[in-house]
Amino acid sequence: MRYSQSYLMNGKNTLLSLVISLPKLSFEPTNQLNTMRIFSLIFAFVFVLSCSEKQSATTISEMEKEIKVVEKDNPNLNLNTIAFGSCSRQDSPQLYWKYVAQQNPDLWIWLGDNIYGDSEDMQVLQAKYTQLKSDSNYQGFTENHALIGIWDDHDYGVNDGGKDFPKKKASRDLMFDFLEVPKTHPAWQRKGGYTAYTFGETGKKVKVLLLDARYFRDDAEKDYYEPKTYRYVPNEEGDILGEAQWKWLEGELQNSDAQLHLIGSGIQIIPEDHRFEKWANFPKARKRLFKTIADCGQENVILLSGDRHISEFSQMEIEGREKPLYEFTSSGLTHTWSGGGGEENQHRVGELTIATSFGAIEINWETQPLAVTMKMFSTQNGELLQERKVAF
Ligand SMILES: [Fe+2]
Repeated sequence: MRYSQSYLMNGKNTLLSLVISLPKLSFEPTNQLNTMRIFSLIFAFVFVLSCSEKQSATTISEMEKEIKVVEKDNPNLNLNTIAFGSCSRQDSPQLYWKYVAQQNPDLWIWLGDNIYGDSEDMQVLQAKYTQLKSDSNYQGFTENHALIGIWDDHDYGVNDGGKDFPKKKASRDLMFDFLEVPKTHPAWQRKGGYTAYTFGETGKKVKVLLLDARYFRDDAEKDYYEPKTYRYVPNEEGDILGEAQWKWLEGELQNSDAQLHLIGSGIQIIPEDHRFEKWANFPKARKRLFKTIADCGQENVILLSGDRHISEFSQMEIEGREKPLYEFTSSGLTHTWSGGGGEENQHRVGELTIATSFGAIEINWETQPLAVTMKMFSTQNGELLQERKVAF
């Protein structure tokens, strides 16, 4: 939008310059031939400029349309800032989008609980997606920003839901429609909602892998140690991704020449001390994920997660990796944890943030090794809450 306006302004300035310069031309009233030539020249110039403006308007429209539709590979979309968030009630005010826009993100990643669907009735889910998409604040943001995403439990359709949710196929299609995943994207042809996207030119590539931690996930038992309070009992042999998604993930990581990899999961991966949903409830799957990341030889990996209505940075040494693995949890956008108090996380670095927020990853392409800064921003006023730099 910005450069398109400047293009039009340049055209108008050129025309203005021509008009101003007219008196400087040899313009003798008695020389009718010269006069006709000059007017013909001006007419031709104005005609060309007029066409140029019309053409640029068409080009702008196509460019704006193009940037919203994120194909699997987007070599022309270089990423300097990536914003993401989770847990947004569709019936809460969506005023925070202006603060996200202030960070000038090149990409927005929905990281789950994008609506609070919570229904097996797909008309209810559709209506809630429509409510969010109809919001003028959200529309104002999405008209000018590319976005991708993955679900968590509430937009999947059931709180803490897994592979047994009976409407998961229909719900997946609604999510892809909401995200405007192009019908040509291979994800439409498989089960589940996982997707991979590569952005940027050679040497500045970012690969985003969005894991589906719902569609194939086994169950975990709840232990009610108090009448209304439970903790999950680890399912030692249980899986989260399912074999097809594991194979896909391994392939995407091994066959990548990206300079940065972002792996998104609705639920947290590294934190293991709290009692709620997390990869640690499925220790075998969590270990396999760490091994998959280590074995692919990509050091430049950051994990992204949501779900928890808190925000924090976690860091963990992983066998087979030279440098620690970082996770950036950002949640929630419209509401936060009301339980009060703190929460243990042996892997946390920095502070526990209990405030509505969104995350941003800023990439500094000029540094060697590559460095990124993870930033947490308030959705109440756009203020920076915390930041942490990671160098690979
Ligand atoms: Fe969730």
